[in-house]
Amino acid sequence: MCGITGYIGYRDAYPIVINGLKRLEYRGYDSAGIMMYDGENIHLSKTKGKVSDLEKITEQEELRKAGKIGIGHTRWATHGVPNDTNSHPHFSESGDLVIVHNGIIENYDTIKKELTSRGYTFKSDTDTEVLINLIEEVKKNEGCKLGKAVQLALNNVIGAYAIAVFDKTKPNELVVARLGSPIAIGVGKENKEFFVASDASPFIEFTKDAIYLEDGELAIIKRDKGIKVRKIETDKEVDADIQELQLNLEQIEKGGFDHFMIKEIHEQPKAILDTYRGRMLPNEGIIKMAGIDDNLPKFLNADRIIIVACGTSWHAGLVGEYLFEDMARIPVEVEYASEFRYRNPVITSKDVVIAISQSGETADTLAAIKLAKSKGAFVFGVCNVVGSSIARETHAGAYTHAGPEIGVASTKAFTTQITVLSLIALKLAQEKGTLSKTAVNNYLQTLQQIPNQIEKLLEIDPLVQHISEVYMHATNCLYLGRGFNFPVALEGALKLKEISYIHAEGYPAAEMKHGPIALIDENMPVFVIATNKGHYEKVVSNIQEIKSRSGKIIAIVTEGDVTVKEIADHVIEIPETEEAFTPLLTTIPLQLLSYHIAVMLGKNVDQPRNLAKSVTVE
Ligand code: G6P
Repeated sequence: MCGITGYIGYRDAYPIVINGLKRLEYRGYDSAGIMMYDGENIHLSKTKGKVSDLEKITEQEELRKAGKIGIGHTRWATHGVPNDTNSHPHFSESGDLVIVHNGIIENYDTIKKELTSRGYTFKSDTDTEVLINLIEEVKKNEGCKLGKAVQLALNNVIGAYAIAVFDKTKPNELVVARLGSPIAIGVGKENKEFFVASDASPFIEFTKDAIYLEDGELAIIKRDKGIKVRKIETDKEVDADIQELQLNLEQIEKGGFDHFMIKEIHEQPKAILDTYRGRMLPNEGIIKMAGIDDNLPKFLNADRIIIVACGTSWHAGLVGEYLFEDMARIPVEVEYASEFRYRNPVITSKDVVIAISQSGETADTLAAIKLAKSKGAFVFGVCNVVGSSIARETHAGAYTHAGPEIGVASTKAFTTQITVLSLIALKLAQEKGTLSKTAVNNYLQTLQQIPNQIEKLLEIDPLVQHISEVYMHATNCLYLGRGFNFPVALEGALKLKEISYIHAEGYPAAEMKHGPIALIDENMPVFVIATNKGHYEKVVSNIQEIKSRSGKIIAIVTEGDVTVKEIADHVIEIPETEEAFTPLLTTIPLQLLSYHIAVMLGKNVDQPRNLAKSVTVE
C-alpha cells in the first residue's frame, strides 16, 4: 500500500530514490512521483502510472541533476483516483513543505474543512495534501521547527501513516514518522548519509545498518549530524536501535528469470529447506522451535487455536486447521482477520491465536492481533519479513525464512507457512502424545523429502505450459479439492484470478453439487486435486459427475494413478507423500499454470492491476 523512499547525504539523490521506488513498486503502482532539492529550488515530478513512466517524464528534466536530497512515492490509490494531481509528493500551500505518505488519514475531511475556512486551498482529492497543510498551519501558529510541527500535527490525526516530510527553509533535514505503516531508516557511515524507505530493500547496497521506527515514533534526520527519535504522543526522546540487515542484493533481483513470480516458484525447494533447517532432526524425532518451546504450556493448555490471516496466508491457515486437528487434536478456527477484528469475537486467555502474514504488515491482521491481545489471548506470529510489525506485536513467533517475496501473487510464502504450521502441529502432537513416536519420525522424514520432490516436480513445466495454452482463453474456471487440498483449490483459484483476471472459484469437491455444477458445460475447465489418499474415491465420483456434464477435467493425481487418468482430459502427477503434506506439492502445478496463462495473455505477472503486496490499509 504505497511505497515511500528518501535520501539525504552526499551522493546524487535521483538514482537512489528512483531505484528505491522500483524496489518498492510491489507496494503499489497506480502512480509515482519524486521530489529533489538542488540547494535552492524544489523540483517535483509525478505521474499516473509506474515508476518507469516517471523515469520517462523525468528524462530531460533538471530534476535528475538536482541535489543530494530527495523523496519519492509509488502509490496504491485510496483517497482520490490515480491521476497526476493525486500522485505524491504533495506541496503545502506555501510551497515550502513537501510530503510523501503511505496510509490513510481517516479524519482528513474534518481537518480539510477547518483548513479551508482558514484560507487553504487544495489541488488534489487526497488526505495527504490535508496532512501537509495541517503541518504547515501548526508550524506557522506555533512558530516551531518542522519536527515539532509534524509531531503536534500527527497528534491531531486519526489513521495510519508512514510519512517523509521536507522543508525548503530547513533543507538539511528530513522528518519521518510512522503509525501502522512501516519505515526503515538506513544509516550511512559516520552519519554522512541516510536512507528512508518502506522496507530496507532500497538501500541494501549502501548500508546494512537500519533503524526500524516503532509505531508512534518520529525521527528527525539531519545530514552530517544524525538521527533523533521521539515519541509522537509525548515528544519524549527514545534510543534508536540500529539493527544489522540480513538481506542481500541477490535476493531482491530476478536472477535470470523473467519475473519474480517464477523465480519465487523455483525457490520453493530452498525456501522450505531454509524454513525447517535447524528446527528438526528427523531421525531423532526432535523438533526445536524456540517460540513454541518457550511457551509450551500456553499451547498445551489451550482450549482452541484461532488462526487469523488474509489472502493466501488465510489459505495456509486453513491447511493449518487440518494439520492441528488431525495431528495434535486441538480444535481450530480460521478467521479472516478483517472479519474477526470487527465481529466482537469470544476470546479468552485460554485461546491461542496464530497470526499468519508474509509481509507482517497487513493492517487487518495487525488489528486482529491487538484485539486478541486485549482480551488476554496468547498471540503467536508466523511471518516472513523479519522485524515486521506483526513479528514485533505478537508474544512469540516463528519466521518462515522464505527470503524476500516480491511477486505480488504469493507463492513461496504459502508453502513455507504450511511448513512452519506442520512443524508446530507435529511438535504439539509429540508433546500431547496424540501421535506415536514412530508416526512423528515418519512425518519428519517425509517432510525432509519435500524440497527434492518439488525440485523434480518443477520439471513438469512443459506439460503445464501445454495445458495453459489449451485453457488460456477460458473465462471461468473451477478448482476442486477435499480435506487438506480444499485450501489448495482456493489458493489455485486465487492465483489465477490475481494475475490472469480469469474468473475462478475454489470449492470443496463435494459441495460442487450444491451449486457450481450448474455452471459446468464443455467450456468449463475444472481443476481437480485427486491425490491417492484421503477421499480419493469420493473425488473420483466428483470427476465422473463433471465428465458426464461435458466439463473439461485437469486432474492433479499421485504418481502411478490409473483410474483418474482414464477419465480426465489432462493429468499432472505429483510424487507420493503423506496426505498432510500433499498441499506442498499439489500447489506447485497450480502456481505454474496461473503464471503461464498470465504470461500468455500478456498480463503483468508481478504487478497485477489493483493489487498490492503489502496491504497496510484496512
Ligand atoms: C495481499 C497480497 C496477497 C497476500 C495478502 C495477505 O492481498 O496480494 O498475496 O496473501 O495481502 O498478506 P500477508 O502479507 O499478510 O500475508
